[in-house]
Amino acid sequence: MEEQKRMTEPGTPQPDEKYRIDIIAKGPYLVHGNPPLQQKILVLNEEQIPWEYADGNTYSTIEEPTALCRCGHSKKTPYCDGSHAHAEWDPTLTADNVPLLENAESYDGPTVQLADNMEYCVHARICMAKGTIWELTPQSDKPEARESAIHESVFCPSGRLKLWDKQEGAFIEPPLQPALGLIEDPQEQCSGPLWVQGGIPVNGPDGTLYEQRNRVTLCRCGSSTNKPFCDGSHIKARFNDHLPLEIKTEENK
Ligand code: FES
Repeated sequence: MEEQKRMTEPGTPQPDEKYRIDIIAKGPYLVHGNPPLQQKILVLNEEQIPWEYADGNTYSTIEEPTALCRCGHSKKTPYCDGSHAHAEWDPTLTADNVPLLENAESYDGPTVQLADNMEYCVHARICMAKGTIWELTPQSDKPEARESAIHESVFCPSGRLKLWDKQEGAFIEPPLQPALGLIEDPQEQCSGPLWVQGGIPVNGPDGTLYEQRNRVTLCRCGSSTNKPFCDGSHIKARFNDHLPLEIKTEENK
């Protein structure tokens, strides 16, 4: 049998080998390497559109491995409590393992080029905050428009949106350390995906080595039609992990 080789998206850091996520066929995500795990709460700008993430509560990943719920039915989220065994959900992993950029649409601008693969949209809406990224890209010779376009792309949690810097000849990627985020969306009154940051590799139960990327969002509501990746279905499903929302500041860290 031909040995699989993992593909790596340009701009992806190489984390320590201790980090990885193994997906159980009809069960949870098994997290190895004890990366930090913290809520990432979408916060709004003056126009009431999501603009960035605030840090929320942190959760332990000291157990090796730590089993995180992916069916959306656990009573002790973010952890797995075995509910997947009797809950109604479809665990089938339907996403192909084609590099994200291969199926991305391209939008050209004077200083940047936008790569956009809609299949990975998690409906975080940051890409619409200061004019849409599709409107801003063709105006990227104006410093303000360029800056907003860069913000809207690097805060896209799934990496659906990537900007190519024409002058640098490289993608503009946020410098992310290996970490996991639990996305929370108070405006939509729901919870979102598991945000896998910093190139932590994700492995399927059949030996699939998913493309290694800096920003990955894994479904934790059980409703995505593009599993293991989030496709935004958590909003329609009104997924709620019932974790308390408390924004951490310097004072209450
Ligand atoms: S968490 Fe987004 S579709 Fe399941």
